[in-house]
Amino acid sequence: MGRVTLVALLLCLTAGALLVQAEDPYLFFEWKVTYGTVAPLGVPQQGILINGQFPGPRINCTSNNNIVVNVFNQLDEPFLLTWAGVQQRKNSWQDGTLGTMCPIQPGKNFTYHFQVKDQIGTYLYFPTTGLHKAAGGIGTLNVHSRDLIPVPFDRPADEFNVVLGDWYNKGHKSLKRLLDSGRTIGRPDGIQINGKSAKVGDKVEPLVTMETGKTYRYRVCNAGMKTSVNFRVQGHIMKLVELEGSHTVQNTYDSLDLHVGQCLSVLVTADQEPKDYYLVVSSRFTKKVLSSVAIIRYSNGKAGSASPAIPPPPPENSQGIAWSMNQFRSFRWNLTASAARPNPQGSYHYGQINITRTIKIVNSAGQVGGKLRYAINGISHEDKETPLKLAEYFGVSEKVFQYNLVKDEAPASAAVTVAPSVVNATFRNFVEIIFENREKTIQTWNLDGYSFFAVAIEPGRWSPEKRKNYNLLDAVSRHNIHVYPGSWAAVMTTLDNAGMWNLRSEMRERAYLGQQLYFSVLSPERSLRDEYNLPDNHPLCGGLVEKLPLPPPYIAN
Ligand SMILES: *[C@@H]1O[C@H](CO)[C@@H](O)[C@H](O)[C@H]1NC(C)=O
Ligand SMILES: *[C@@H]1O[C@H](CO)[C@@H](O)[C@H](O)[C@H]1NC(C)=O
Ligand SMILES: *[C@@H]1O[C@H](CO)[C@@H](O)[C@H](O)[C@H]1NC(C)=O
Ligand SMILES: *[C@@H]1O[C@H](CO)[C@@H](O)[C@H](O)[C@H]1NC(C)=O
Ligand SMILES: *[C@@H]1O[C@H](CO)[C@@H](O)[C@H](O)[C@H]1NC(C)=O
Repeated sequence: MGRVTLVALLLCLTAGALLVQAEDPYLFFEWKVTYGTVAPLGVPQQGILINGQFPGPRINCTSNNNIVVNVFNQLDEPFLLTWAGVQQRKNSWQDGTLGTMCPIQPGKNFTYHFQVKDQIGTYLYFPTTGLHKAAGGIGTLNVHSRDLIPVPFDRPADEFNVVLGDWYNKGHKSLKRLLDSGRTIGRPDGIQINGKSAKVGDKVEPLVTMETGKTYRYRVCNAGMKTSVNFRVQGHIMKLVELEGSHTVQNTYDSLDLHVGQCLSVLVTADQEPKDYYLVVSSRFTKKVLSSVAIIRYSNGKAGSASPAIPPPPPENSQGIAWSMNQFRSFRWNLTASAARPNPQGSYHYGQINITRTIKIVNSAGQVGGKLRYAINGISHEDKETPLKLAEYFGVSEKVFQYNLVKDEAPASAAVTVAPSVVNATFRNFVEIIFENREKTIQTWNLDGYSFFAVAIEPGRWSPEKRKNYNLLDAVSRHNIHVYPGSWAAVMTTLDNAGMWNLRSEMRERAYLGQQLYFSVLSPERSLRDEYNLPDNHPLCGGLVEKLPLPPPYIAN
């Protein structure tokens, strides 16, 4: 057999084993991850580039496409990317968190292989190793509806991806040193928009160009480290059409709050006098307001003509929280619109399913051995050399972690314990997760492997009678939720995706210092219908599992 044939055959075998729907198209990418100079706030520093780009390349695909990304790590540190919100059905092996995968060693490569199954929308990828996210490696993944599946708005003239967020000039190594020494990374230095920043009046290249009369889709993601932002387009209204993979009721907004890790799509029509306009992005709920602008140009307009009168930000402080909470409540699932499948979103009646488990999560900060740590219900997660999923798969979990250190109810004491944190969950349970934030800062949370219904956000403490205030009809299905200071949020989901799934603070500093856990969701049947086997290309690491025999494979039934 010729070498090429053999390789082709191996590829087919791997593909066949991993993916049942072999007929869905494949998209192949080769990404080189390197250091390179970036200067989002005008200060040159060491950045992380993908194929020379910051932000990284956009993946543009369609529901059910198979995505194959061969990532070459040319940094001097281990590296890993996660695809936040991509559900990785049956496949936590590709999730790119340190609890499920060995990081890619310097000079090595790893090929991610996943399917964007039954999803549409706008997603972020970013590094989960160290504080790499503060230096780059961030980018977006757009999933379009398949042809023939109706999209609830006319095809826009074009689409623009806008990746924005807070930024630090210090560089990821200095930031990591701060955290490792027990301190915080402090406040960010500014706001970047697609890798740049500008003040009103600066002569800069336009972010995008629109033609009079046409409508454009802006896919906007907050890829920052810890700061919520508000964004607005001078002189234009924005029509919200998509939020983290759901088609929303199409309300219009003058400005939108966007929290860390969240993505949404708005339509903007070029219906104003042809000239330049500012896109304004400013920080929310921070002592000092940071902001940046970018230029939106009309193709037939006069360059450099944007008015310096920029639209004001929404109120801050408690009034600002009330404003933002109201805006959250205005986000509704369009029940009659389709998402990835032909049936309308509203044909899934989540409000009629009985809750089988309630997990209340309370975030806290504390000191352990004189060093800052962040915790969930008193447990501050630490990664181990052997990824938790591998330890469990090979049957040696007891050598690496203990299940259920995090209890469903937060303990009364504020003490913090550092340990790998895995919560045992029952396959197909319908769970309610309450996030209660007793701290003075806003939080955002991300759940991998699932989307959940974000049924409520309210001030104060949660209690069971608050359930009568839940939106059990048209809450948006998403994977990230924010929790205002002194408030709570409730989400609901069916744990029908077997695997080891990360629930984390989407604020990188907090996740790095332990504010995360993993849900172990095992299918009792050990069936390939529920979970894929360990992929052949997966590196093993940590010293415990490398020499062990492979567990018996899951059965195809
Ligand atoms: C992105 O993908 C969609 C659907 O496959 C396609 O219509 C569109 O032209 C693509 N855009 C770019 C910039 O490749
Ligand atoms: C690394 O890249 C090579 C060359 O493209 C490829 O053949 C190999 O499968 C990749 N290794 C992994 C672990 O993905
Ligand atoms: C919801 O989606 C339907 C079906 O595509 C569409 O006709 C309707 O305008 C949308 N409704 C709202 C309020 O956005
Ligand atoms: C939910 O629980 C109620 C009360 O325990 C029960 O009567 C009902 O049948 C359950 N519904 C479903 C769909 O299981
Ligand atoms: C995890 O939960 C399942 C039932 O959902 C149970 O069978 C199993 O024994 C539990 N494992 C541990 C380690 O608690």
